[in-house]
Amino acid sequence: MKKLIIANWKNHPNSLREAKRIFSEVKKTAVKLKKVETIICPPYVYLAEFGRATSDKMRLGSQDISLQEKGSHTGEISVAMLKSLGVKYVIVGHSERRALGETNEIINQKIKILLKNNLKVILCIGETERIPGEYLQFIKQEIIEGFKGIPRKALKNVIIAYEPIWAIGKKGSYAAAPEDVLQMGIYIRKSLLDVAGKDLAHNIPLLYGASVDSKNTEKFFREGGIQGLLVGHQSLVPKEFNKILKVAEGL
Ligand code: PGA
Repeated sequence: MKKLIIANWKNHPNSLREAKRIFSEVKKTAVKLKKVETIICPPYVYLAEFGRATSDKMRLGSQDISLQEKGSHTGEISVAMLKSLGVKYVIVGHSERRALGETNEIINQKIKILLKNNLKVILCIGETERIPGEYLQFIKQEIIEGFKGIPRKALKNVIIAYEPIWAIGKKGSYAAAPEDVLQMGIYIRKSLLDVAGKDLAHNIPLLYGASVDSKNTEKFFREGGIQGLLVGHQSLVPKEFNKILKVAEGL
């Protein structure tokens, strides 16, 4: 399986011109890679610009999905619209959306919509703080409630990104330790056993996200037991992001 490197642009950049610049700089590197699939998740308004420019080496993702599939819902953007623009992956349950009130129940509904529409789900989970005796249960609940009522088979289109909230948006040295990511990965796979069954619990790709940079990338792959990375602020700096891609390719 190829390594997955996901660029989460969040609410950036401020202009289409800048978005095009970042995209084309990254594309130059991404299209040359054999062992890495790059997935760019820009804000909705830039998706149309990039849909046709993607391929199996560089895919387009959305940062969220509406609960409204069709009908009169002012301001909403439907799953069909995203698909028509070439979106293949959708991030769900990012902590910055959970902070706006998104519950596991809402996330579960979104995952159901995406899987029904044959889109790949990137489910973000992660604890706010490492409170002993609490945070592992919190993670397990995000998994169990997120996948509630979904047939096991459908979960083959799911990717899980472990994003400890306390480590998001910082310098690379503040990222989680790779051995903690490794242990969390084992715990996530154990928690998946009941909802996904043995095979998928073992095979669902696990990503790490939170303050990833070109310097800590290698350690996460070598020591963190992960299959990919979700990159936030460093994905807006093409020189840095391309370095991350090249490090991943070289491993
Ligand atoms: P960061 O963001 O790389 O800026 O920490 C990661 C994320 O929130 O997805």
